[in-house]
Amino acid sequence: MKKVKMIYEGKAKKLYKTYNDDQLICEFKDDATAFNGEKKDEIKNKGEINAELTNILFKMLAKKGIKTHLINKINKTDLLVKNLDIIPVEVVIRNKAAGSLAKRLGKEEGSKMAQPVLEFYYKSDELGDPLLNKNHIFIENLATEKDLEKMSEMAFKINRYLKKYLAKRNIDLIDFKIEFGKDKKGKIHLADEITPDTCRLWDINTQKKLDKDRFRRELGEIEGAYQEILNRVRN
Ligand code: TMP
Repeated sequence: MKKVKMIYEGKAKKLYKTYNDDQLICEFKDDATAFNGEKKDEIKNKGEINAELTNILFKMLAKKGIKTHLINKINKTDLLVKNLDIIPVEVVIRNKAAGSLAKRLGKEEGSKMAQPVLEFYYKSDELGDPLLNKNHIFIENLATEKDLEKMSEMAFKINRYLKKYLAKRNIDLIDFKIEFGKDKKGKIHLADEITPDTCRLWDINTQKKLDKDRFRRELGEIEGAYQEILNRVRN
């Protein structure tokens, strides 16, 4: 499959048209940004690592019955994916308090919660991806009630499968962000990526951060952390 034309360049990925209108090529870049693009750098080998992690994790989820946009991996940094209409609502699932939830509710990072928390965010760089509730989503026509129900059901299932898979590899899934898209028939698929850019992943024993917070918070050893996640996930 060949790249015909770049149709979108995001902060961490590029999307290309192919000769088949139903399929796109998603190229993972080494570029990293934080705080809505204010902090920028490169993380060596991140593109390759994140393409492979998404490939492995989406295949694992597909085996469990989760519909995903992945068709197959075509080279080190590129995935062939279904051409979907992306729903502009990002779904975050949290298993332990961290990041913006810890801040908003005054909780200690890493503290346990009585149940997993699901949140919606507006996929809008201009607005800085604000938190949304259902009423906000409906007044802006971002998704229907039925879409949100399906996305939430899929997100909780993904959380259960992913948490178990990672725990076996000594990785604690603290939280993650996922995106969904619709195919021509209106069926909802998991899209985008699942990587240390979009998840908080801590060592299960030491609680050492092995994700993009090392970049956001300037903790160093960024590339090593991404590589460590790939090594563990491959096992
Ligand atoms: P938060 O605690 O900063 O709201 O982040 C929650 C989760 O979402 C965390 O796993 C990191 C991920 N995330 C993204 O994938 N993209 C983003 O732009 C942000 C802010 C967070």
